[in-house]
Amino acid sequence: MKVAVTGKGGTGKTVISALLTKFISRYGDTLAVDADPDSNLADVLGVEVEKTVADVVDELYMKKYEIRDKDRWFEARINEVIHENEFDLLVMGKKEREGCYCYINSLLKKIMQKIVDFYDNVIIDCEAGIEILSRRTIDFVDVILVVVNRSKLSRDTAKRIEELVKELGIKAKIFVIGNKSAEGDFKVPYSEAVERCLEEGIPVVKALEEDENLRRAIENIAKGIGMVVQ
Ligand SMILES: Nc1ncnc2c1ncn2[C@@H]1O[C@H](COP(=O)(O)OP(=O)(O)O)[C@@H](O)[C@H]1O
Ligand SMILES: [Mg+2]
Repeated sequence: MKVAVTGKGGTGKTVISALLTKFISRYGDTLAVDADPDSNLADVLGVEVEKTVADVVDELYMKKYEIRDKDRWFEARINEVIHENEFDLLVMGKKEREGCYCYINSLLKKIMQKIVDFYDNVIIDCEAGIEILSRRTIDFVDVILVVVNRSKLSRDTAKRIEELVKELGIKAKIFVIGNKSAEGDFKVPYSEAVERCLEEGIPVVKALEEDENLRRAIENIAKGIGMVVQ
């Protein structure tokens, strides 16, 4: 199953993506995608990443007169960027130069469509807001999780996401995740273990071992959306 984790900035997308990735990785081949240029999914997962998609795009720019079939070159390179572990990780990274961002996105879209089918589960930690949907980068997902907290702003963003998904005719099912016990189709409790991990720079996935309520909440999501057969 392919899942996109969306919502307003600061609601908990990265934390929830990381926890879900870790939880789900024992059930099948799993790929986590950090599609937020400002994100830190790798750190939160405790994975060191050497190269990002943006780095490969940069290299492509430098060599653009030498490389004839850019799509093929890019596709071959992207395999080097995928970090392999108990789960695989692909980090989009930050743009290095002005104007190349649309290009990264269109390449990422093409590449993702090709690689996602090699995995049982794909979890995409999205950039805040609605652009990733309007750019149609993630049309292939089965499920869109919209993370909200108790703020009205985060609910407003969630509403806009739901409207946009309808407007664009995206087929994915949408579920609202109420983080820190906000209302939603699923709730994730506030977890001191999560805060502690982040404070100490320990992979946040450790919190799953320490906080039984948190683990149960993540399991509930995985089962509820059909990632794990109940
Ligand atoms: N369930 C939780 N329990 C405790 N703290 C949380 C929880 N979810 C998120 N946080 C806190 O909120 C901050 C923002 O979360 P993050 O996942 O980075 O948000 P986003 O990716 O949506 O911007 C984290 O740094 C962490 O301190
Ligand atoms: Mg984030």
